[in-house]
Amino acid sequence: MAESSALHAFMGHANPTLCHLAARTGGAVAIGNVCDGDAISNFAVDHDINLAFVSSDDPLAAGVVDSLLDHGIRAVGPTRLGSEIEWNKEFCRSVIARISPESNPAFAVARTPDEARTAVHRIGANGPLAIKPVGLTGGKGVKVVGPHLADNEAALGYALEIIGSGRHGGAVLVEERICAPEFTIQAMTDGHSIVFPPATYDYPYRFAGDTGPGTGGMGSCALPGGLLPFLEKETFDEACDIIRGVISYLDESGREFSGCMNAGFFVTQDGLRVIECNARFGDPEGINIMALFDGDWMDVLGAMSTRSLSADLVPMSDKASLVTYLVAPEYALGTSDGHLFTVDEDAIAATGGSILFSSAIEESPGAYRTVGTSRAMAVTATAREIGEARSIAAKAIDAGITGDLEWRDDIGVFPART
Ligand code: GLY
Repeated sequence: MAESSALHAFMGHANPTLCHLAARTGGAVAIGNVCDGDAISNFAVDHDINLAFVSSDDPLAAGVVDSLLDHGIRAVGPTRLGSEIEWNKEFCRSVIARISPESNPAFAVARTPDEARTAVHRIGANGPLAIKPVGLTGGKGVKVVGPHLADNEAALGYALEIIGSGRHGGAVLVEERICAPEFTIQAMTDGHSIVFPPATYDYPYRFAGDTGPGTGGMGSCALPGGLLPFLEKETFDEACDIIRGVISYLDESGREFSGCMNAGFFVTQDGLRVIECNARFGDPEGINIMALFDGDWMDVLGAMSTRSLSADLVPMSDKASLVTYLVAPEYALGTSDGHLFTVDEDAIAATGGSILFSSAIEESPGAYRTVGTSRAMAVTATAREIGEARSIAAKAIDAGITGDLEWRDDIGVFPART
C-alpha cells in the first residue's frame, strides 16, 4: 500500500516496518486494540482515509470491516459473517459439505464430553485422529496423533480439555488424520471475481524436519510456474474450483467476502481434501505472493472494493519466492520476556534479501526487541529458482541479523511432509 499511497496504520504494537512506511509516506500511526472497530473507524475518519484493508483473523472475526463500512469507510476484507469461514471450522466443514463433500475428511463436531467420546470412538475406529478447536487459535490449536498426541486416547483428552475450557469456541472437530502433501492458495477476490496466484507451501512445524509443535508458520515458499513438486496443474485447478464454490456460496448467502482467501489442501491418493479456508492472506504465505506481485496494490484493493477485480491488475513475476521467519526461542513452546536482536538493513539489502518486522519493536536505531511470543521478523528472497532464493535468505540472515532468534534452515526444501 505504501508503494503508491500514504500508509496510515492502526496496530497492536509499534511494528517497525509499518512505522517506517507510514513515516516515509506521510501517514499516521496509532497503537491500540486491533479488534476495536470503533477506535479503528474513528482513526480512519480522523485521517480522512479513502480505503482500508483489514487482513488479520481476530479483527475480521470481531467485525472491524463491518464497523468501517458502517462509518462510511471503503473497506476491503470480509465482514464478520464472511469471515466465519475461518473463525468457525464447523461452518467451513458445512460449506465444503455442500459444494464438494468428497473434499471433507471424515469428521464430527463435539460440543460436550459425551459427544467427544462418541466422535473419537466412531471416527477413531478407522485410524489416528486430528483434533481441531472450532474457533481461532493463532494457528497453534490443531493437534494430530503422531506429532502432537500419543494416540486416540490422548486425542480425546485434548478434545475434553478444549471443551472444558470453553476457549476457542468451546467445541472441537474430531477428524480422521490425513498424511499427505499440503499446499495453500492465496485466492484474491472482490466477492465475485477471483484471481489465483501461484500455489504456496508452508512449514508450520517449529523445528527443521517438520518436528515440534505446530506454529503459525515458520516459513513458506512458492515456485516458478506456480505449481509445486507434488502438485499437478489439474489438481491446482480442482482446488481453485473448490475455492470458487466457497466464495460463490458466501456471496449468494449474503456474507460479504473481499480480500484474500488462504485455502489449504491435502493431495491424497483419493483426491483433494480441504484442510481449512482462512479469511485473509496466509502468514507467511501472503508475503510470498506479495513479493512476486508486480502491479499496484492500491489498484487491486480499489477493484476489490468495487467488485471490479480482474487478472490484469494482478501481474506476478514468474520466480521462486521464499520467506523465513525468525522467532523468539520460546515461540510455540512457552512464554518469553522479550529478546534483543540487531538488524543491519543495508547488509541485508546487499545480499538481495528483504525484511518485514512482525512481533518486534525498535529500541534504538538498528536494535530491536521481540514482543510477546510470536514471530519476530521475516526474511524474504525471490530468485529464478528456489535454491538461489534459499541461498539469498541464508546470506541475509548471516550478514544482517544478530541476537537471540531462531529459524528453520530447511525452508524451501522439498519434500518436507510429502
Ligand atoms: N500459515 C497459516 C496461516 O496463516 O494460517
